Amino acid sequence: MLRLLATGSHGLLGSNILPILERYYTVIPLDIEEWDITDRDAGDRTIRECKPDIILNLAAYTNVDGCEDCLSLADRVNAEAAGIVADLCAHHNIKLVHISTDYVFDGEKDSPYTEQDVPNPASVYGLSKLSGERKVLDACPSAIVVRTQWLYGHGGVNFISKITQIAREKGVVEVVDDQRGSPTYTKDLAEPIRALIEENAAGIYHVANSGSCTWFEFAREIFDRLKIEAQLNPIASVHLNRKAKRPRYSVFDCSKLTRDTGFRMRPWPEALQDYLG
Ligand SMILES: NC(=O)c1ccc[n+]([C@@H]2O[C@H](COP(=O)([O-])OP(=O)(O)OC[C@H]3O[C@@H](n4cnc5c(N)ncnc54)[C@H](OP(=O)(O)O)[C@@H]3O)[C@@H](O)[C@H]2O)c1
Repeated sequence: MLRLLATGSHGLLGSNILPILERYYTVIPLDIEEWDITDRDAGDRTIRECKPDIILNLAAYTNVDGCEDCLSLADRVNAEAAGIVADLCAHHNIKLVHISTDYVFDGEKDSPYTEQDVPNPASVYGLSKLSGERKVLDACPSAIVVRTQWLYGHGGVNFISKITQIAREKGVVEVVDDQRGSPTYTKDLAEPIRALIEENAAGIYHVANSGSCTWFEFAREIFDRLKIEAQLNPIASVHLNRKAKRPRYSVFDCSKLTRDTGFRMRPWPEALQDYLG
């Protein structure tokens, strides 16, 4: 079996997809305690010891509002360190899969974003992730950059656990109705990532569950399915007073993934049903 080393493996995405990828690869899960990706020498040592065929770079500074106050940390982890990982992969002849985000787009489009659309991030997080993508592909053109969005999954706090908790505690939940995207079940990224590796793909790919909704519509669907009777009110994003600007519209066109691998992402309501069990 090929050896797949994952960075940032304790995070939301890692803890959900690595158990699936273990069916196909010998997975070496590492997080910041074992390899801080900002440390090139540690990376070089780790690679020499672990001898991976593939590196899945899940490590990132993902606090979107926190990034607005910590520009240098965002840049160091999401951009510089992504470049370090890519450099090491190129040097050691390792296939790299790097994860990026819909926040590289400003959200001003009204039809699904393709990989050809020109990014224009509206937040520090988005800027740092875009810079990371560019450094990755400059250093290692054979890398696969998977852009995804609106992740939810098991473990930790996520949108679903947050709104269901507020519903239980307060009986009223306010959710923004002016941001449209595609909620994506973390586990649904495992197979397309494998398919891209198997096809020896390279470059940027959009990968998200199909269909779209606003966060309010997503919440409505969750409450209906869980038979939660709390009041759900739509609000505008401005009322949340968040530091970072989010894209108003960030639906992905994932047809490149289907064209190059044959893999088709399932609709978000089907994935949600699977998650809710
Ligand atoms: N969540 C989403 O909705 C979403 C959407 C689009 C794209 N993405 C992308 O998907 C990837 C995974 O995201 P996620 O949601 O799983 O994030 P996450 O839960 O925050 O996980 C990231 C992991 O990286 C670790 N980390 C941070 N700095 C590191 C460093 N210098 N070296 C090594 N590890 C480090 C974190 O450790 P600590 O927790 O100790 O900091 C954490 O375990 C990221 O690239 C993210 O940008 C996420």
